[in-house]
Amino acid sequence: MQHEQASRTALLIAASLVLLHHDAKYSRFVSKASADLCARVLEKHSAKTRLFLKIVRQIWFRPIAKFIERITIPGILLHYALRKKCIGELVRSALASGVAQVVILGAGFDPLSSELQQEFSTALFWEIDHPATQCHKVRACSEIGIERVHFIAVDLSAAGPDREALISNGFDPAKRTFWIAEGLLMYFPADIVSSLMKTASTLSAPGSEFAFTFMEKQGYGQLRFDSQTKLVDSWLRRRGEPFLWGTTRSELAEFIRPWRVIRFFDHNDLRDMASDLSDEIIAKGEVICLAVI
Ligand SMILES: C[S@@+](CC[C@H](N)C(=O)[O-])C[C@H]1O[C@@H](n2cnc3c(N)ncnc32)[C@H](O)[C@@H]1O
Repeated sequence: MQHEQASRTALLIAASLVLLHHDAKYSRFVSKASADLCARVLEKHSAKTRLFLKIVRQIWFRPIAKFIERITIPGILLHYALRKKCIGELVRSALASGVAQVVILGAGFDPLSSELQQEFSTALFWEIDHPATQCHKVRACSEIGIERVHFIAVDLSAAGPDREALISNGFDPAKRTFWIAEGLLMYFPADIVSSLMKTASTLSAPGSEFAFTFMEKQGYGQLRFDSQTKLVDSWLRRRGEPFLWGTTRSELAEFIRPWRVIRFFDHNDLRDMASDLSDEIIAKGEVICLAVI
């Protein structure tokens, strides 16, 4: 990412969630509270995102959004919605079974921790993100009273999850933790991904889980969504957010040790979560992995 500006992809996801919430077909995937938080970020970020927010809320924009999706990454909106639903279900199940700590790496403007802190009254949350992105989230959250979410601003490519900052903000490495890295690791080179995984493992009591996403390597080692057009490759490069890391499922098992793969969720598994949308395209290429230690 460009280090002095908020992540463009995080802003795009926030706008996508607002768009999905306002579309009757997809609104069940994004609660009003989540869409409101994303809208607040866009409203406060800049005049441009304020205008964009106004546009994405208009009915006339929906066919234009569909067109833009078709010429960039067909099925990406539904992929975002179902990726979030899948990870949301995994973390809720861990919280229901007694895990009380959740750390979200590269949280961006994801409303997940704000939703979960209302549902799970004793759980604690930490969001670790780049300062240039996180300051906009903190500003938006300061008005809505998010109590049990601690924000830690760190450049993960330089420092990794900050052990001291986590512990001084109430994190207890002796307790089981659920880690999340959604839409993050593909932006780092392999050595940084490996060191992030290792640091997280040293902070994790046995039984801790890690849900993260990765780009599944295609033929010729390409790192992209199956349907991604060249337009997107150049947009990500220009915005300083090109995909740097991807792997195969078999290589991953060795790569993430001491974490152990529990299961993968790909576009087919995501499709099973929305059987009434079976005729819709879901972007293929980014896979969710649930691992345990
Ligand atoms: C594609 S967004 C995903 C946001 C969120 N996880 C989601 O899925 O909605 C990528 C996130 O990674 C964060 N990120 C990228 N590079 C980073 C770095 N070097 N250090 C910390 N965070 C970084 C960005 O700030 C952004 O929030």
